[in-house]
Amino acid sequence: MVSSLMLIIAMCLLSSVGAVKKAYTNQWALEIAGGDENAADETAAKYGFKNLGRIIPGENFFLFESFAVRSRTRRRTRSIQTASLSRDHSVQWVQQQVAKRRVKRGHHAMRRRQTETNFNGPHNPNDPLWSDMWYLNGNRPGLDHNVKAAWDLGYTGKGIVVTIVDDGLERSHPDILPNYDPLASYDMNDRDEDPTPRYSSKSENYDGTRCAGEVAAVFNNSLCIVGIAYNSNIGGIRMLDGSVTDAVEAASFGHNSDYIDIYSASWGPDDDGRTVDGPARLARNALERGIKTGRGGKGSIFVWASGIGGKNADSCNCDGYTSSIYTLSISAATENGNIPWYSEACSSTLATAYSSGASGERMIVTTDIHHSCTNNHSGTSASASLAAGIAALTLEANPTLSWRDLQHIIVRTARPENLRAGDWVTNGAGRSVSHSFGFGLLDAGAMVLLARNWTNVPSQKVCRVSHSGRYKTIPHGSRLQLQLYSDGCVKDDESKVVYLEHVQAIITLTAPKRGDIQIYLTSPSGTRSTLLAKRAHDTSRTGFREWAFMTTHNWGESGVGNWTLEIDNDGWDDSELIKWDLVMYGTGSLIEAPGGLDPSFLATVSAVDHNAAASLTTTLLLPIPLLLTLRQRFQL
Ligand SMILES: *[C@@H]1O[C@H](CO)[C@@H](O)[C@H](O)[C@H]1NC(C)=O
Ligand SMILES: *[C@@H]1O[C@H](CO)[C@@H](O)[C@H](O)[C@H]1NC(C)=O
Ligand SMILES: *[C@@H]1O[C@H](CO)[C@@H](O)[C@H](O)[C@H]1NC(C)=O
Ligand SMILES: *[C@@H]1O[C@H](CO)[C@@H](O)[C@H](O)[C@H]1NC(C)=O
Repeated sequence: MVSSLMLIIAMCLLSSVGAVKKAYTNQWALEIAGGDENAADETAAKYGFKNLGRIIPGENFFLFESFAVRSRTRRRTRSIQTASLSRDHSVQWVQQQVAKRRVKRGHHAMRRRQTETNFNGPHNPNDPLWSDMWYLNGNRPGLDHNVKAAWDLGYTGKGIVVTIVDDGLERSHPDILPNYDPLASYDMNDRDEDPTPRYSSKSENYDGTRCAGEVAAVFNNSLCIVGIAYNSNIGGIRMLDGSVTDAVEAASFGHNSDYIDIYSASWGPDDDGRTVDGPARLARNALERGIKTGRGGKGSIFVWASGIGGKNADSCNCDGYTSSIYTLSISAATENGNIPWYSEACSSTLATAYSSGASGERMIVTTDIHHSCTNNHSGTSASASLAAGIAALTLEANPTLSWRDLQHIIVRTARPENLRAGDWVTNGAGRSVSHSFGFGLLDAGAMVLLARNWTNVPSQKVCRVSHSGRYKTIPHGSRLQLQLYSDGCVKDDESKVVYLEHVQAIITLTAPKRGDIQIYLTSPSGTRSTLLAKRAHDTSRTGFREWAFMTTHNWGESGVGNWTLEIDNDGWDDSELIKWDLVMYGTGSLIEAPGGLDPSFLATVSAVDHNAAASLTTTLLLPIPLLLTLRQRFQL
């Protein structure tokens, strides 16, 4: 009681201390009862707004623009407008839209290596930068994305629609134009159909055009490069070149989601090592709706560039976009297989693609604005786009893949060898995993092969367990260790998880300095994920409120047994864990490679489940080695 009161006081104090000046826009997002377009128009007219329309197709959110207010508003006007709207009986929720700080994840290189003299062999395309495409042109067997193998099998992205959610797309670029798809494009900043970037003297709006070329530049046309999915349809959603509000993000992720297969995003909250931010209400809604209803119900694919705040010791688990279970979070590796200087380590990264590195290492070649080419695309912006192209090849190989099937295929085919990191471990399912590289380097050839014969995984189950202890003090300079037993919700068919996919620890805690907190989660199989590393720059005193730290490292393990949460507090004062919930996502039955379920295997496994359920404490240790043996035998 005392603790909770203190918490409330603390949070009130802290929110005023830590508050950043917000940039309010003249737009309001509203949830209108029943979601009726006419009702929204009437409400808008009644209070002096213009209804700009529905934000996410199929949902009841509308965007209103104020006639009375220009782009920035004084606090008083603001609260009066919000208050009058919220009093209307048809309005279930209203929020003035705030411009968020969103940063692109390419970076300007300090120096670049000269382009090599061009030589194209007889069987190679005539695109002039082909010989610089070291990450896929076949000159480094085993040290590239094995894209040629996928092409040789006939997969080039045909019929797959990709959109780059970024600062625009130069649709007239001759290496992109033949694959340009207006149905996969929109300009959220100017609210029109044309995603062409704004050309400024600083030429800062090139990222989208560079990313698009990596995915879908035309093959063998004597221009620039070859896109990985060079027969796919490519579009651009221009949304970073203006006020990036929750509504803008949501509208972007939800744009034409029956038509667009893959959304690729190479940006996020500031990677300054002190920010904790993620999708807000509307964007969360759009992502969730996307995976549920997008692509005809198979689920939109959201590829996300992991942060580039390595220099600031940032953690990508403090970015709610990359750490969402709905996004495919992609990290980068350098030409020599090292961790790039900008890379952020965290447990939610799924896999890796090549990108820029040290000054002697080559970068990514691609299309650039003003109908040009570049040999210096960099950062995770470049690696995520390679991943989007590879995902397009995989969906072409098997269009029935769900958003989760694609993640399963990546986990099984990504290659850890040749990527140098000090933290590779083998998880309880026998897979190597690292906080810098996830499960390893994407292998396009292996992915399409596995995709072709893949049987869709069963529906996602969610097993949620709460730790009973609340308000646990973490004295400064010490560690709090908690155990939480889970039976994998075995008694409830709706939530029973036998085979883990994503795992979240949802944590609320106070801390005198947030950056002094470190959090680790160890699974019953003994896999230890770093959920949060120390962030020296993070001086915030707001702690974490219901923050979902995610790990992919338990993929394929069993969730049954004791989970251990460790929290280190290196701060100058005590910290307090208010609560933590463990959320396990996965399937209610085991999954055999290459997908599908072997009936005889299932029979053995259900016997194991039965034992585990019958006698939780005494026989618990028995099933785990047995499961491991079974996994080894079936190469799960
Ligand atoms: C590229 O196009 C040229 C003709 O412009 C053709 O001779 C060559 O065979 C093509 N190369 C490939 C790899 O398709
Ligand atoms: C990167 O390439 C562009 C051409 O697209 C060029 O204008 C720019 O100077 C290059 N930057 C560096 C740092 O080499
Ligand atoms: C996998 O799929 C391909 C093409 O769809 C087919 O030719 C092949 O026989 C399949 N392989 C197995 C092992 O089922
Ligand atoms: C799980 O943890 C509880 C409490 O710490 C302990 O009593 C129990 O023996 C543990 N079970 C296993 C299987 O380690």
